[in-house]
Amino acid sequence: MDVVMIGAGYVGLTTGACLAELGHRVTCVDNDALKVARLRRAEIPIYEPGLSELISKHVESGRLSFSDEPALAASKADAVFIAVGTPSGPDGDIELSYVKNAATSLAPLLKPEAVVVIKSTVVAGTAQMVRRLVHEARGRSDVYVASNPEFLREGSAIRDFLEADRIVAGADDARAAKVLEQLYAPLREKGIPYIATNTTNAEMIKYAANAFLALKIGFINEVADLCEAAGGDVAAVADGIGLDRRIGRAFLNPGPGFGGSCFPKDTRAFAAIGRRFGQPQAIVETLIDRNEVRKSALAKRILSELGGKGRRVAILGTAFKANTDDVRDSAALTIMPLLLKAGAKVTAHDPKARHETERHVSGAAWADCPYEAARDADVVVILTEWDEYAGMDLDRLAKSMSGRVVIDCRNLFEPEAVAARGLKYVSIGRKAAAPVERIKARRTGAGTGNWSEIAA
Ligand code: UDX
Repeated sequence: MDVVMIGAGYVGLTTGACLAELGHRVTCVDNDALKVARLRRAEIPIYEPGLSELISKHVESGRLSFSDEPALAASKADAVFIAVGTPSGPDGDIELSYVKNAATSLAPLLKPEAVVVIKSTVVAGTAQMVRRLVHEARGRSDVYVASNPEFLREGSAIRDFLEADRIVAGADDARAAKVLEQLYAPLREKGIPYIATNTTNAEMIKYAANAFLALKIGFINEVADLCEAAGGDVAAVADGIGLDRRIGRAFLNPGPGFGGSCFPKDTRAFAAIGRRFGQPQAIVETLIDRNEVRKSALAKRILSELGGKGRRVAILGTAFKANTDDVRDSAALTIMPLLLKAGAKVTAHDPKARHETERHVSGAAWADCPYEAARDADVVVILTEWDEYAGMDLDRLAKSMSGRVVIDCRNLFEPEAVAARGLKYVSIGRKAAAPVERIKARRTGAGTGNWSEIAA
């Protein structure tokens, strides 16, 4: 099929390249001419494993092209995907103007029977509203609108597309339903579950899925705090509950609070939709609040371990998770400014996200490797689960530091292994491990030191 993808951002590029892989002819359109020129030279503006190779493969195969001029491509397209941004407003509700503009400006150009597929994450009822706008702009109702949300994780987006858990195809008429079926035929033949539903349900599924996943993380984070207080180990608890098939083990890893481009934004939007429809989503509202509190509680915890102004802290990992350069809503963006404001000397390291972090946080020094960041540090804090950190030489780390405290918000190490290097190891949802040669002295310390106690 001939496909046009409006918006060559993260979702548009990945989806466009993957649709080309399925055998369709795809034109990715973006109004940023510079970006388009770079994409034509296979310069990819984001870091996503495998994407650059997939794009090069299909530019060469002739199935993928880029344009800053949608008219020609749109007039031939069987399906026009809209994958433009939906920025958050002050109340958390999303801004639909880019979606509406894209749809209405293309409407007069489409060939009859074409289907506009909304890929951007949008609130329930948007596809129906866009359908009305498109028909008005066209003066005829001979084109269709569908909803096809994405479930791509940064870092594994291509696999998430080609080996999806399910495809959600929202259509309110036979033509839109048929075009979606044809687009996804190769994946359906592979046995990937295909949920054919209406557009409102498809839109709801996307938000409900992300809110539920975020709830799993928020829940295990609080269980972790309780484990710390009660002397339990959150990993054992997560394994124990996760084997119940109704619960599942995935997304039960505690951390410094979820971040990224989706969970924080989508939970806020979900809560805003609830308020708008007079059905407040109280559980999700609380989740959003607790996730923010968690990040600032962590900053307080770090400061209490630092124990005074002018002391040095190394931050390892500023990306919101490993294998991305994305720092949107990452814990580091909350924690680093709080540490700097309190007078700490911060040296940061991240294998990919330095540049993005520097756009949001100033005043920190940067190091080229974790050991250099840890040099003379009183406290080392691990915020992102990069393999590079999990594989660190702990002896070398201990030697670089002048202090003795490692706060690991991703539970990358066995507590005994760190303690054996003479370091105090604070992880999440497990008892802190005192440095081996100082066990007696540390035992006299007051308090459990768990996150909720610090937050109080
Ligand atoms: C998410 C959804 O997974 C994806 O389906 C949707 O399309 C976009 O949003 P993404 O934001 O790329 O994807 O990352 P994800 O791997 O889901 O992680 C989100 C955040 O939750 C990260 O900050 C991560 O560190 C955190 N997380 C995730 C945990 O703290 N614990 C977990 O067990 C899982």
